Amino acid sequence: MDKETADTGDSPFQGKDVSDIKNEKPLLRALRGDILESPPVWLMRQAGRYLPEYRERRTKAGSFLNLCYSPEEACEVTLQPIRRFGFDGAILFSDILVVPDALGQKLWFEEGIGPRLEALQGPQDLALLDPGRLEEHLRPVYATISLLRTALPETTTLIGFAGAPWTVASYMIEGGSSRDFFAAKRWAYGDPESFSRLIDLLVEATSGYLLTQIEAGAEVIQLFDSWSGVWPEAAFRRWCLEPMQQIVARVKAAQPDVPFILFPRGAGPLYKAVAEESGADALSLDTTVPLGWAKDVLQPQVTLQGNLDPALLLVGGEAQDRTVEAILDALGEGPFIFNLGHGINKNTPPENVTRLVETIRSWRRRENS
Ligand code: CP3
Repeated sequence: MDKETADTGDSPFQGKDVSDIKNEKPLLRALRGDILESPPVWLMRQAGRYLPEYRERRTKAGSFLNLCYSPEEACEVTLQPIRRFGFDGAILFSDILVVPDALGQKLWFEEGIGPRLEALQGPQDLALLDPGRLEEHLRPVYATISLLRTALPETTTLIGFAGAPWTVASYMIEGGSSRDFFAAKRWAYGDPESFSRLIDLLVEATSGYLLTQIEAGAEVIQLFDSWSGVWPEAAFRRWCLEPMQQIVARVKAAQPDVPFILFPRGAGPLYKAVAEESGADALSLDTTVPLGWAKDVLQPQVTLQGNLDPALLLVGGEAQDRTVEAILDALGEGPFIFNLGHGINKNTPPENVTRLVETIRSWRRRENS
């Protein structure tokens, strides 16, 4: 009854029992609003081509998708960066585009280009998508998660993920990466009724996918809206914020204790709307979000994650150290998880990542809770 609480202010974390929180893994603690002596850390795209041990497995697997759909192999490459760097979070090795693949849309990865899909041409192609295929097709992903739960160190948190509906829809309509998103935007502006049917289908598919990831053992969920930064406000609300909100609500209705991290990359001032309205526990900041603004406007409401420019990891040395410390000094006094502002680059020297983790782990907050 008279137990200490995590926060006495008017934060959303008010009322959490500190003695419960302290028993949790560092990443989960930060997501519950706890402020650690030095913040937990993981990196977007931490498994990947900058690691020689990944390149070796990737070559043996023959293709990236083979790797994604082979539970033993996917488990192994998820573990590689954990062994090397001791990150606090392990993100499931997979891709956001396994959902359209599972819906029956042809997907392949081209060397040096990236993902390619047989593009949806318009509303008539929605009938080609078959949600009935999801469960069976995504079974290897769930198997990977189960393997990881037994293989991961005790203090490491397992992060499941999916792409947010808009970002996934953009790949489905553009047939791959895009510079201007004109095909997807033309559809959304020209025929919002059928576009919203596609988005609704993805909300439904993604919610089920994430719930099954959680049943298999995922402890945290991150939603990637990598291309949310291309819309005016009204469209951002309709095609990015609302669908994410719906997914958070659906998943939390069944799994209220599993924290959500949202990554509305490029949302700018609209990060504030996401913090206030999405129902997420944490926001992942892209590289451009100003630290002082994030601290004052966003951090009182949600845990923050981010936002080192991945390009600094190409450079390393003191330029890297100084920027890392500036981020820690600005955001480390509140609930915070260190990460990058976007995925790690494939030319990153692994020793710069070792140095990054050392800088974070030796940093200490000024105030004590
Ligand atoms: O360590 C991890 O983060 C684990 C898994 C992961 C991958 N992709 C593996 C991957 C995650 C979380 C993703 C998310 C993802 N995939 C996003 C959202 C995050 C972001 O970067 O904005 C997006 C947009 C995709 C789609 C995608 N997959 C693209 C555009 C590409 C090509 C770009 C590239 O780096 O080649 C991929 C391929 C991909 N996904 C690779 C990896 C390790 C490289 C493929 C290879 O090994 O050949």
